[in-house]
Amino acid sequence: MKTKWQMLTILTATLGALTLVGCMEVSKRPQKKGQISIKPFGQTKEGVAVDLYTLSNNKGAEVGVCNYGGLVVFLKVPDRNGRPGDVVLGYEALADYIKDSPYFGALIGRYGNRIAKGKFTLDGKECTLAVNNGPNALHGGLKGFDKVVWEPRLLASLEGPSVELRYVSKDREEGYPGNLAVAAVYTLTEDNALRIDYTAITDKATVVNLTHHSYFNLAGKGDILNHQVMLPADKFTPVDNTLIPTGELRPVDGTPFDFRTLTTIGARIGQEDEQLKFGNGYDHNWVINKPMGQLGLMARVSEPTSGRVMEVWSTEPGLQFYSGNFLDGTLKGKGGWVYQFRNGFCMEPQHYPDSPNQPNFPSVVLKPGRVYRNTIIYKFSVQK
Ligand code: GLA
Repeated sequence: MKTKWQMLTILTATLGALTLVGCMEVSKRPQKKGQISIKPFGQTKEGVAVDLYTLSNNKGAEVGVCNYGGLVVFLKVPDRNGRPGDVVLGYEALADYIKDSPYFGALIGRYGNRIAKGKFTLDGKECTLAVNNGPNALHGGLKGFDKVVWEPRLLASLEGPSVELRYVSKDREEGYPGNLAVAAVYTLTEDNALRIDYTAITDKATVVNLTHHSYFNLAGKGDILNHQVMLPADKFTPVDNTLIPTGELRPVDGTPFDFRTLTTIGARIGQEDEQLKFGNGYDHNWVINKPMGQLGLMARVSEPTSGRVMEVWSTEPGLQFYSGNFLDGTLKGKGGWVYQFRNGFCMEPQHYPDSPNQPNFPSVVLKPGRVYRNTIIYKFSVQK
């Protein structure tokens, strides 16, 4: 069994060549595109100090990334009048993220979304996970990747300023088999895109499904019901009443899940529909129409008052669109904003929920010697 440091060294050697294509450590190369500044962001309960890395570009965009939980703490992009505004929910202080956060801005892993009853079988062996969401395992367990300290490294890519976060998840952590070394590179590009490139390697067969969990509100206030959404998906994966997929890939045609043409989130969310009832709104995985592993458009969202538009691109096959149905006015966030029901939405590109138990879903198994890769891009622009 390899130690954490051996895994980090292997990760650096194996992935270094991959993540550093077009990237260099900042100290070794002057930055031309954008900037990075660093400031302390507080301490964990164990007394580990973490920092906030602010990446800024020359087009008025700025993103704050913390090496606790891989959090995106703020993301400022211009509206149609060129005024920058924060489009993600979250807190001002680390202590609030540690105390109570519904995964605001978090890096999710080892397995994004739910695994039924926290159990699956891999190579004939049953794995038992920490159960933390009713009867199921959600977002990596009791202490998922959103609650650990990541090792940061500044990079200057050809596209813009980047910060790389690395973490080694130990064999059996939260019940998952294998030491898993993970790297996530956050880049702010000159075309106002936040790009996250994830890579991972393991020393034993395991399951991996990493994603990003920002809650967006392109107006920076109020509910998200007037945001217009387009999802290029002919099918979605219906769920049971604990939000575990039934295994069916159901056509969206004629259902409130048909977002193939731009539709407001609020237009059909209140309809009498069993699936909407189970999710208390949208909290489902859409099967995106594109070839497996290919970078493609997953969602387009526009908000009429600010004029902001967000496109989501990814190499992943599915998109979890969650309409903030668990927000209930009990959390007070940045600038004193009390987050009410549906004040933010998440667009989480990933493999389908419960894939380890669903033979018909694309595989999430990672074997030793293979490299897990996933790219997620949130690209911002404006329309008149
Ligand atoms: C995901 C899940 C939701 C919910 C949120 C976090 O989007 O699908 O059911 O757990 O994360 O609150």
